[in-house]
Amino acid sequence: MSSPRFYCATCQAGAEKALKAEVLAEYPGLRFAFSRPGFVTFKEDPAEGPALALSSSVFTRLWAEVVDQTRDPAAFPALLARVPAGAVVHAFDRDRFVPGDEPESYAFDEKISALEGVRDFLAAHPRPATLAPGDEAYDLVWVDDFHVFLARHRHGAKQLPNPGNLPLLALPPSAPSRAWLKLEEAILRFRPVVQSGWVALEIGCAPGGATTALLDRGFSVVGIDPQYMSEAVAANPKFRHLRKPARYATAEDLAGVNPDWIVMDMSIPPKDALGELSHVIGLLRELHGKKLAIRRGFLTLKLNDWKYASEIPSYIKQLGRIGFEDLRPVQLAGNRQEFFAFSGKFRV
Ligand SMILES: C[S@@+](CC[C@H](N)C(=O)[O-])C[C@H]1O[C@@H](n2cnc3c(N)ncnc32)[C@H](O)[C@@H]1O
Repeated sequence: MSSPRFYCATCQAGAEKALKAEVLAEYPGLRFAFSRPGFVTFKEDPAEGPALALSSSVFTRLWAEVVDQTRDPAAFPALLARVPAGAVVHAFDRDRFVPGDEPESYAFDEKISALEGVRDFLAAHPRPATLAPGDEAYDLVWVDDFHVFLARHRHGAKQLPNPGNLPLLALPPSAPSRAWLKLEEAILRFRPVVQSGWVALEIGCAPGGATTALLDRGFSVVGIDPQYMSEAVAANPKFRHLRKPARYATAEDLAGVNPDWIVMDMSIPPKDALGELSHVIGLLRELHGKKLAIRRGFLTLKLNDWKYASEIPSYIKQLGRIGFEDLRPVQLAGNRQEFFAFSGKFRV
């Protein structure tokens, strides 16, 4: 009889229940074992064959096979000793704060790095700047004072090569909102072609974090939002503001606008956002027909209530009906109680 195997999954603090539901839907034979904010473990018993890979999960940031864990500081050196020489090691803390609520001094690895011996251990395991799909990495995860997990995972093509599959972006002082982080993280993860001179239509653009990222990358931006933009964005000659709810946009408002990218981030329930998005795309279709230029979508939907998480497949279907294809839903590390769908193709 084979012994049980454990898996750990990391996510945003608050998303554990949604993650659990997704994992158990894919592997009904797994049993939920243990959970802390941002960290969930599962037991496979009996464990036969290779470790399970997770094929699709919106809320799982990292999925790894547990090697060992300890709640005893005296046993911590023995845990470190289980990492083979030359192995790639990713050391990070489970999420303790909802993104945006971290204290100013926060660092993603402050807890694990403060443990005795960790700095020297990491210096002895220098981290390569990139990983190829299939490369193995060990994960040293601070879960509590004191509880540390050692796990291992295979690098996935859609993952970032950083500890915890985190983007490690810093919000620049020029960005008027955290939405800058979301757009930049999406570009890092999905690597769309970015061409200076393209046009973005942003629905829900105030106060202008994502617009700032787009303008800095050479885009012209038309933004729809009833709220005011930051002064710097409003004064930028490459930005035009339609200051109204998207549902009131008219063909006249959008005359001459044939966007390459659609960016959406409205603080309204998903069904309402999808309705207003559909209205705007309908206007663009009327205006441009087969010449509609849309090639990528960066689409955030608020989960105003976590109960909406189970509706994600239906939201994705609706985005497909609107014309967005090659849809890849994920909860970005920069997302709050919301998820993001990248669309790599639009059906004209
Ligand atoms: C999370 S904020 C957007 C952040 C913005 N993308 C940025 O980069 O700073 C959500 C925005 O949705 C806007 N909003 C809410 N309902 C809207 C609607 N019906 N049409 C357009 N914008 C809407 C709000 O006014 C708010 O500015």
